[in-house]
Amino acid sequence: MSDIDSTKIPEHSRRDFLYVATGMAGAVGAAGALWPFIDQMRPDASTRALASIQVDVSAVEPGMSLTVKWRGQPVFIRNRTEAEIEAAREVSLDDLKDPIARNANLPTDEPATDVARSAGEGMESWLVMIGICTHLGCVPLGQQGDFGGWFCPCHGSHYDTAGRIRKGPAPENMAIPTFEFISDTVIEIG
Ligand code: FES
Repeated sequence: MSDIDSTKIPEHSRRDFLYVATGMAGAVGAAGALWPFIDQMRPDASTRALASIQVDVSAVEPGMSLTVKWRGQPVFIRNRTEAEIEAAREVSLDDLKDPIARNANLPTDEPATDVARSAGEGMESWLVMIGICTHLGCVPLGQQGDFGGWFCPCHGSHYDTAGRIRKGPAPENMAIPTFEFISDTVIEIG
């Protein structure tokens, strides 16, 4: 049992971490927030109960993102632009620090191609991934960094537009949780 006192978590970290369960726009703005990492260590009953969530993404146009909370973690949902998809596709697998897709919906050794990181054929614009840096657990900032994807300012990890680690100390691509589109506009995560 963790002895971390949640009252000692900096107030700004709690305030900056906004999330939605379904259907509304939200954002994560807490650079380097420790809240998700700590919260995972002592999930409350309501968090444990959220085995899966459904998210309405009908309002998420290309170039927009949504962040939802799932099992106590932020999940980034991004409807990528054509330019973002193209940039990710142009990258050779040989240039990837982590060549594995890290996609829970695919075999564990699936290569980290752009389509393998996305929601799949025909849904390539959608990226759904756990928004936690694989270095030490900070929440990266979207559409920043050297590769136009995500940037973790804690120790300088840069992810590309497919959420793949490209530079910095993080060892792995950001993880993709189990999810599926259960209609044209609703994603079920978990
Ligand atoms: S936690 Fe992201 S770079 Fe260290």
